[in-house]
Amino acid sequence: MHVLARSCYESVSVLDPVSLEGAVPADMGAKLLWLFLASALVAYYIYSPMPEDFDEPWKVMLISASFRTTGHLAEVADRLGLMHYMEALMLISTFQYIAPTSDENVTVTDTEFSNVPVRLFVPRRASDGLRRAVIFFHGGGWCVGRAGMKSYDHLARWTSNMLNAVVVSVDYRLAPKYHFPVQFEDVYSVTKFFLQSNVLSQYGVDPDRVCVVGDSAGGNLAAAVAQQLLQDSEVKTKLKAQALLYPALQTLDLNLPAYQDNENKPLLSKSLMVRFWSEYFTSDPSLREAMASNTHIPVESSHLFQFVNWSNWLPEELKKDHVYTSPVYGSSELVGKYPGLLDRRAAPLLASDAQLHGLPLSYVLTCEHDVLRDDGVMYARRMRAVGVPVTHVHAKDAFHGAMMFVSGAAELAVGHRLLNGYIEWLNENL
Ligand SMILES: *[C@@H]1O[C@H](CO)[C@@H](O)[C@H](O)[C@H]1NC(C)=O
Ligand SMILES: *[C@@H]1O[C@H](CO)[C@@H](O)[C@H](O)[C@H]1NC(C)=O
Repeated sequence: MHVLARSCYESVSVLDPVSLEGAVPADMGAKLLWLFLASALVAYYIYSPMPEDFDEPWKVMLISASFRTTGHLAEVADRLGLMHYMEALMLISTFQYIAPTSDENVTVTDTEFSNVPVRLFVPRRASDGLRRAVIFFHGGGWCVGRAGMKSYDHLARWTSNMLNAVVVSVDYRLAPKYHFPVQFEDVYSVTKFFLQSNVLSQYGVDPDRVCVVGDSAGGNLAAAVAQQLLQDSEVKTKLKAQALLYPALQTLDLNLPAYQDNENKPLLSKSLMVRFWSEYFTSDPSLREAMASNTHIPVESSHLFQFVNWSNWLPEELKKDHVYTSPVYGSSELVGKYPGLLDRRAAPLLASDAQLHGLPLSYVLTCEHDVLRDDGVMYARRMRAVGVPVTHVHAKDAFHGAMMFVSGAAELAVGHRLLNGYIEWLNENL
C-alpha cells in the first residue's frame, strides 16, 4: 500500500502537458498518459511472481490479486473503524452464500444438530445397504467461511453424489465474536450427536463408515475431533477415517521453513495466518505481535518443541538450506492468559505419541507453496511413526486452498486433480 501511494504521487509530478505538445493535443496526451499510468499501476498491483511449477500462473495471479484486494479493503475498513478486519473478510462468505437447494441427485437442507447449524446433504439415489457419511468442517481461519458458501456447498454436494454418502457440513461459530474453544466445541458436539446409533440409523448410515474431513482451519478441527474421540468413553462409534486438507496443526513455531519459504504465496500469507491464529484465541493485539515475531511461547513450555521440531520431522527436500535454530522464548504472560495456545484441541501436533496412537485411517494433503505445508508433513510423519495408516499426498504445484477452485471462472486444473485424488481415496477407504 505504501509503495502504491508513493508511485501515485510521483506520477502526478511526471505529468507535464508541455512536453507532449506537438505529437498529440495536450488534453488527449494527458489522458493517454493517465491511462498508461493507471494500467501500469493495476499491472503492478496484480503482478506477483508465481512459482514456475504453477500450471496456470496468470489465473492464479488474478485469483491471488482479488484475495489481496479484499484483504486490503478489509484493512482499510478496520483502520477507519467501520468494522473489524475479520467481519469485513466475512462479507465474502456472505456474497458467496447460496440457499440450500436440492438437485436431481442430492437433497440439501439446513438444520441443527445439538443446537449447532449444519447443512445436510442426503443422496436421492436408492442405496442397496447403509450409506457412508462425511462430517465436514469448512476452512477460513476459524474466523470466516460458512457451509452455505458456493464453493463449500459444491464440494459437499459433489462428495455426497460421488460417494452416495450423507454429508454433514457444520456451521460452527466464528471469531472474532467467539474464540477457542467454541469452534472446537461446536464441531465436536455435532460429531458426537451424529455418531449416536439412533441418529446414524435415522439417516441410513453405516456406523463403521463415518469420517471427519476439513480443509485448512477445518482440517485443524477435524484432527482435533479425531484425537478427542479416542479418549471419549461416551462415544461408542469409532471413526473409520480422517481427511485433513492442508490443515493448520500447531501454534508453537510460526517460523517453520514453510512459513519462511511461502510468506507471500497465493491466498494465505504468513501475516494472515498469524492473524487467524491469534484471533482464534483473542482479539488482543499483543498476541498477534508476539506470534508475528515467534516469541509467544515461554521457556517453561520448551518440552513441547520436540513435537514440532522440524529438524527431526521434515524430509531433506523440505529442509533445503534452512538451518535449525533453537526457539526464542518469550514471557509466560500470554500462555497464562490464553492457555489454548498449548491445548492440543487447538494444536493437534502437540499430542504425545501415545495420544496419536489409535487414530483412524488418515489422508493428509499438503501443498508445496503453503505456509501450512510443514504442519501437515510433520503430522503425517508423526502419525505414521506410531503406526497410524497414513496416505500423504504432497502436491508440488499447488498453493493453499487450491482444491476450492473447481468451478466457475476461477476453475483450475490443479484444483480438479486434488479434488479427484481426495474423492478417490475416500471412495476406496471409507
Ligand atoms: C447428478 O449426477 C450426475 C452423475 O454423477 C452428474 O453428471 C450430474 O451433473 C449431477 N447433477 C448435478 C446437478 O450435479
Ligand atoms: C530439535 O532437534 C535437534 C536435532 O535432533 C536437536 O539438536 C534440538 O535440540 C531439538 N530442539 C528442541 C527445542 O527440541
